[in-house]
Amino acid sequence: MSEIFTKGMARNIYYGGGFFFLLLLVGLTLDTLRELPQRDHRENITESVARGKAVWEENNCIGCHSLMGEGAYFAPELANVYDRYGNGNEAAFAQFMQSWMAMQPLPTEGRRKMPQFHLSKEQVDDLSAFLIWTSRINDNDWPPNREG
Ligand code: HEC
Repeated sequence: MSEIFTKGMARNIYYGGGFFFLLLLVGLTLDTLRELPQRDHRENITESVARGKAVWEENNCIGCHSLMGEGAYFAPELANVYDRYGNGNEAAFAQFMQSWMAMQPLPTEGRRKMPQFHLSKEQVDDLSAFLIWTSRINDNDWPPNREG
């Protein structure tokens, strides 16, 4: 083998490596597209869930909270907030959400504050539907514990 690293060798590594990782990217992208429908249960996205996602985005909840690990780490993870407070009971969770959103900001000293968003009852119900749907996405049990 030649002791000299030639331009040709560098080019082969560049093109060979580039091609290899391009193939890897395409393969993983196809795998993701194939997996997603089984994991996100998109057939359960009702109009309420879609409206709830819009309320979530318009009010920048993600600016403080994380959802399946994505977002800000100022406030609790919400992908499993339904498991924490709903315990499988959708009506109980919707009720919790109505009180929680109405109570903000809590007067307790020394706790981080969540703002008052002045949302309507329907908007909060839509948020509940969105968070219930999110909690059922198969995200390999993220977050690892119930507290988020
Ligand atoms: C400015 C930051 C901020 C924003 C924006 C924000 N929150 Fe919060 N949220 C908090 C904080 C801080 C807590 C924890 C408060 C506490 O425990 O006293 C919290 C707690 C919660 C909880 C209870 C979670 C738990 O496990 O106890 C829910 C539900 C919630 N927020 C929903 C929302 C929704 C929905 C939005 C968007 C409409 C939103 N938050 C936007 C800061 C924020």
